[in-house]
Amino acid sequence: MSLQGKTAFITGGAQGIGLAIGRQLAQDGAAVILADINGEKVVAAGEELRREGCKALPVIMDVADEQSVNQAVATASRELGAPTILVNNAGIYTKTPAIEVDLKIWHKVLDTMLTGPLLAARAVAPAMIAANWGRIINMGSMMSYLAFGQDVGYSVVKAGMLGLTRSLAAELAPHQICVNTICPGNIMTELMEETARNIEKRDGMAPGTFLEQRPKQIPLGRIGAPEDIARTASYLCSDAADYVTGQSLHVNGGLYQS
Ligand SMILES: NC(=O)c1ccc[n+]([C@@H]2O[C@H](COP(=O)([O-])OP(=O)(O)OC[C@H]3O[C@@H](n4cnc5c(N)ncnc54)[C@H](O)[C@@H]3O)[C@@H](O)[C@H]2O)c1
Repeated sequence: MSLQGKTAFITGGAQGIGLAIGRQLAQDGAAVILADINGEKVVAAGEELRREGCKALPVIMDVADEQSVNQAVATASRELGAPTILVNNAGIYTKTPAIEVDLKIWHKVLDTMLTGPLLAARAVAPAMIAANWGRIINMGSMMSYLAFGQDVGYSVVKAGMLGLTRSLAAELAPHQICVNTICPGNIMTELMEETARNIEKRDGMAPGTFLEQRPKQIPLGRIGAPEDIARTASYLCSDAADYVTGQSLHVNGGLYQS
């Protein structure tokens, strides 16, 4: 129970990777705040974790909106204690072809997945500095490093996550705050299903083909589970990772090597 007494704030915690991280950090002893724009799902996720005996609080929040983020962190701090663990996980997938992307969509992608993590980091940093301890985990992607076409928004924000991680790591290191990126490969979630449908349309593949063929292209032979990422987050939050900051960890079944 290495995280006993600590509070973790997880954006996009209503489902998928965020919810798995919430469950894992709660099992490690933390009180967890699941902060998500989807009110119905986040309330259900909070109830699910509480039924399992976890200390969990759902909060409705739009990570792209500064006031909403500050309010969510204030509520979390009042109810469960100021968070000293932040997981910047909220994400959306929208097709964004570089030469014709609608700028409204472009800005939404950047606001949600790049500005949002900065806003959340700013909201939680004072408590981390006061505690002289903290962990920030930013969710990157294989697309922090690779591009496949028609995804300029996602590619730019996920590459930007590496810069955000490096900058926060350098700035916050004097306060013993470790900041790292996890770069998942293909992880089975709703976002993955949406991405697969887009890839199939883009490449003229029959529905279902991508997810059926993908395991054969992954050296470990399977698509990842949200729990694969949750265990990595657990490690990064633990004392075992006290000397790890400014890094990106690739959790991808060997899909590419770094
Ligand atoms: N699934 C994968 O294969 C994969 C691979 C690489 C990276 N990732 C990244 O992991 C993270 C989680 O993805 P997932 O696969 O669990 O997706 P998901 O769609 O299952 O969950 C994303 C969550 O983010 C929430 N969200 C979206 N916009 C928000 C906003 N403005 N404010 C607050 N919450 C918001 C959604 O409501 C949802 O609950 C994302 O950052 C994604 O880019 C996923």
